[in-house]
Amino acid sequence: MTSSTIGVAVIGAGMAGRAHCAGYRTAPTLFDPPLPPIRYAAVVDANASVATDAATRYGYERAGTDWRELLDDDTVDVVSVVVANHLHRQIVESLLAAGKHVLCEKPLAASIEDATAMVAAAAAHPGQVTGTGFVYRRQPAVAATKELLAERLGNVSHFNGRYWCDYASSPLTPMSWRYQGGPGTGALSDIGSHLIDLSEFLCGPMTSVGGAAFATLVTERAEAVGTTYGHARAELSDVVHPVQNDDVATFTASFASGAVGTFSVSRVAPGLANSMAFDVMAQRGSVRWDMDRPAEFSLLADMSGDGYDGSRTILAGPAHPYIRGGLPMDFPGCSFGVGDLFGYQARAFLEQVAGIDGLPPVAPFADGLRDLTVIDAVIRSAAARGATVALPAHPGH
Ligand SMILES: NC(=O)c1ccc[n+]([C@@H]2O[C@H](COP(=O)([O-])OP(=O)(O)OC[C@H]3O[C@@H](n4cnc5c(N)ncnc54)[C@H](O)[C@@H]3O)[C@@H](O)[C@H]2O)c1
Repeated sequence: MTSSTIGVAVIGAGMAGRAHCAGYRTAPTLFDPPLPPIRYAAVVDANASVATDAATRYGYERAGTDWRELLDDDTVDVVSVVVANHLHRQIVESLLAAGKHVLCEKPLAASIEDATAMVAAAAAHPGQVTGTGFVYRRQPAVAATKELLAERLGNVSHFNGRYWCDYASSPLTPMSWRYQGGPGTGALSDIGSHLIDLSEFLCGPMTSVGGAAFATLVTERAEAVGTTYGHARAELSDVVHPVQNDDVATFTASFASGAVGTFSVSRVAPGLANSMAFDVMAQRGSVRWDMDRPAEFSLLADMSGDGYDGSRTILAGPAHPYIRGGLPMDFPGCSFGVGDLFGYQARAFLEQVAGIDGLPPVAPFADGLRDLTVIDAVIRSAAARGATVALPAHPGH
């Protein structure tokens, strides 16, 4: 840090990288106390035009194409790593060795081996803040559900979660890093990683998974002509590659609390753009949340048995986490979206760097490794025709 200013850089300016660029921009406008001054130092992307475009739009001082340029750059204290999963380890280890604080996207790595090494690297640099981007923990309705479960609803019996997307429904979506890697590195790792994390965030640690099955519907994809990012369509070349991983993944889980879980993940669910949802059934009530209507959740609680019991829809507002001070107009009914969550995450990470005791800290790398441990167990269950696979204890619980 130069004086009290925190210099920020983002590596990878594709779909999620832009959310990080914007999140750091928004962070100083949110909550109290004020953050130290933020210096918007650099955006780096292997594609020069993508880097320049993001740096210009989000007001970062410079754009670059080689993340190594950040290592000796004294104006950069905090770096978000927002590139393909298999690139995370090398970049994160180098940044930590160079003294940077590192916020890395989920899944933390492409393998348990890489994630384990990253946890060790973080432990070797205890003075630097590290975190995994499990941004949906900061969804106000999700955070409210966590409070409800802890304070009112009692022991959970069943978590039923789904994350259905349609980004891979069309065979015309070009080949990308998302379709490479073995079974379980597809929909399970890309979006199931969020759902797995949320289930343990709400229900505590899992002890085993089982009944896993994968399906791949679109078995080959053509390379794009030129560069794309995210899930964008593009002109396709004649170069076709096999899809190596799962379009659909389902499995069950047992939790240490005695609860059970059922999980369903798809990237080929037509018409469902980004549809994460869960029902959590507990001793004294249940909660239902669906990201298609992100500011609402349904609560069934305090049943009298008089014939008028039923779930009611609650609008997330200033009485719930993250809303008061977390929106420019933090009034009931003003709503919020996924972009706001990246602002909360950036704010939380910068608070940790600045030593401010404020928002819940960003999930440590250990939680990213834990997530991959569950994913690996699901992969082994699927390989063994749905056999039950025991999980090690969750180091964070
Ligand atoms: N938290 C979330 O909700 C969320 C959402 C989407 C993606 N992600 C995660 O973010 C990461 C990136 O995903 P994405 O969808 O933004 O990918 P993307 O393909 O849209 O963008 C990746 C960018 O990285 C750039 N790049 C590739 N190699 C590079 C290198 N060596 N140095 C610098 N830049 C390089 C590419 O040019 C591209 O612009 C993944 O880990 C993904 O799982 C998280």
